[in-house]
Amino acid sequence: MKTGNPILFSLLILAIFAALLPCSAGGVKGDPKRGVKLFSAMTCDICHLNGGNMQNPDRPIKGAGFQKRYPDDVSLGQLIRKGISDKGMPAFGRDRMSDQDLADVIAYVRSMTPAAAAAKKKTK
Ligand code: HEC
Repeated sequence: MKTGNPILFSLLILAIFAALLPCSAGGVKGDPKRGVKLFSAMTCDICHLNGGNMQNPDRPIKGAGFQKRYPDDVSLGQLIRKGISDKGMPAFGRDRMSDQDLADVIAYVRSMTPAAAAAKKKTK
């Protein structure tokens, strides 16, 4: 079979990339199964085992109050990237954690809040 017009062919390839682009440009999609592994690999679990907070029990990373403080993944991602240095929460910059890793960890963190608590403060 002939490949046909090479210009049309490259346009087709471009169109496929254009169709895929919004998924990556609009933020990486997180995978909670990868996230759970990263959560321990990145040492989060040392301080936040099962979504708790060993150093500041008033700041668990699950539950309705938590979801309310961080209603969207952007705000949550910024917090994890910057950390809270004076309170003992380390910063996880791009040198330590890729955007994909961050999205996966966030997906796992969100999954620790039971659906009932999340539904009270439903954002998406
Ligand atoms: C050395 C201990 C430690 C490690 C490791 C750690 N954290 Fe924290 N984290 C804290 C402390 C302490 C706070 C509470 C800071 C405060 O009092 O405001 C916190 C706060 C947070 C919060 C905000 C909670 C809130 O309600 O404001 C999130 C989300 C969070 N951590 C996620 C993570 C993730 C994800 C990781 C791993 C990538 C991680 N933490 C690693 C100690 C840690």
